[in-house]
Amino acid sequence: MSSPKRRLLVTSALPYANGQIHIGHLVEYVQTDIWVRFQRMRGHEVHYVGADDTHGTPIMLRAEKEGITPKELIANVWKEHKRDFDDFLISFDNYYTTDSPENETLSQSIYLKLRDAGLIEKRAIEQAYDPVKEMFLPDRFIKGECPKCGAKDQYGDSCEKCGATYSPTDLKNPFSVVSGATPIKKISDHYFFKLSDPRCETFLRDWTQVRTPLQPEARNKMKEWVGQPGDSKLGDWDISRDAPYFGFEIPDAPGKYFYVWLDAPIGYYASFLNYCQSKGLNFEEWVRPDTTTEQYHFIGKDILYFHTLFWPATLHFAGYRTPTNVFAHGFLTVDGEKMSKSRGTLISAHSVIESGFNPEWFRYYFATKLNDSMEDLDLNLQDFVARVNSDLLGKYINIASRSAGFLVKRFGGVVSDAAMHNPLLTEIADANQRIAELYETREYAKALRTIMELADKVNGFVDENKPWEIAKDPEREADLQKVCSVTLEAFRLLSLYLKPVLPQVTAGVEEFLSIPAMSWNDVKTPLSSENPIKAYQHLMTRVEAPQIEALLAANL
Ligand code: MSP
Ligand code: ZN
Repeated sequence: MSSPKRRLLVTSALPYANGQIHIGHLVEYVQTDIWVRFQRMRGHEVHYVGADDTHGTPIMLRAEKEGITPKELIANVWKEHKRDFDDFLISFDNYYTTDSPENETLSQSIYLKLRDAGLIEKRAIEQAYDPVKEMFLPDRFIKGECPKCGAKDQYGDSCEKCGATYSPTDLKNPFSVVSGATPIKKISDHYFFKLSDPRCETFLRDWTQVRTPLQPEARNKMKEWVGQPGDSKLGDWDISRDAPYFGFEIPDAPGKYFYVWLDAPIGYYASFLNYCQSKGLNFEEWVRPDTTTEQYHFIGKDILYFHTLFWPATLHFAGYRTPTNVFAHGFLTVDGEKMSKSRGTLISAHSVIESGFNPEWFRYYFATKLNDSMEDLDLNLQDFVARVNSDLLGKYINIASRSAGFLVKRFGGVVSDAAMHNPLLTEIADANQRIAELYETREYAKALRTIMELADKVNGFVDENKPWEIAKDPEREADLQKVCSVTLEAFRLLSLYLKPVLPQVTAGVEEFLSIPAMSWNDVKTPLSSENPIKAYQHLMTRVEAPQIEALLAANL
């Protein structure tokens, strides 16, 4: 069961610092956190880092609107994000910001290495410019009339009315969202990362198609880009933005800033560096090309290109190791539809807590939906209530209350050691390798199905043995103790398997069973008569349907 000790650096995508954490984001942080907690339980060395993604035009403009500086804005948002992650038991070892000195230093040195490798090129390009606000306009800050159907107030990339796609220059009567002015064309120098360089092509073809065990969907998507030798669609990547811009200035180009997507992934390393310095860990050992450590990025499918093309190329050509793998998940829908403000389904993490929901209900529900693919997943609110009440509480939590009472009242909390050799317990313990394999491969839905099938068997065992009847017969004291001991040990094993998903409930279980924090190897450490259990304490309440209504109303 014990594999050699692995050393893992794990990240989740860095959320933008211009909005609240919502339940869609949480899918990713919960997915990562379950994996991280599982790896820790296996005894591996795991470091899980994150940060807020703080740079770029939207953040600059939002701060301006609120009458505060971008730095003030991102400091406020950081506190909210951190609070939400703590509420949902996301166990980051370090939660930092991309607007850090570590990130500035790393971004600049990486850029200079790319430049010295001959992979940076300066080129003049023409772009939309707001002559009133005196700034270049990213596509999403230009609106106008659809060139196809004439619908007003459409964004520069596609029409919400007729679905046509086009470029911002095609819009009729375009205007700047920032000032209302008509954009003009203006030329300026931009810096490009030459991904079309044959060295990059060759590297990325090998990295995405041969070296990295990407998800099949991800590999196929990348195949379209890296193509066959001589037939790649990789364009050079524009990594600079002109002032005014909230970000890091490019060292050899005053007035030019790194595009946010250049410094954002480097923010993973900056957070880790900041953490290494505070813990006395050797950062270099983790990031050098010949390292034996592993590096994993959990992301949503929408940001795959950044993580499987730009980021590995950036790392490789700046002399760093590349990711061991990138794990992409699909998007969360609510009741089958895209989350929407008007339906109240754009549910913020904080509103979930404020409405009195137990965060572990969500952790559990998301886990029942997650697998290793990039398919979207749906939060069906009725199904949510059913899964939590009938599976989590009805099948699992209930087992504890069915066995602990008699043990405490009649046997001083002492279990029967002889009961630990029961075939039901052997069956549950033997499932550990399969369950571990499912967690390892991010097949959480299957892991939980397996665990719930075992819970069904435990409930069947209780129903068959009827402890409440044995309890009436004074001659059958020993039987009663045995049946309850088997049941409670079974409950311990199920709790061990659920621990990555339900850290809080299982901490309560450890407390009431009087056992130390369980690791995966404790499959082999049954309850013992030497450690009497404490009185059963309430572990989790049911979700009530009206709570759902209140939650939706809170998000309108
Ligand atoms: N800032 C970038 C990531 C930079 S990583 C170096 C970003 N931020 S985000 O706030 O828009 O999204 C953060 C993560 O949440 C992304 O991985 C994104 O895919 C994920 N999700 C955002 N909405 C989601 C759903 N509705 N469902 C599932 N995941 C979602 O992208
Ligand atoms: Zn249209």
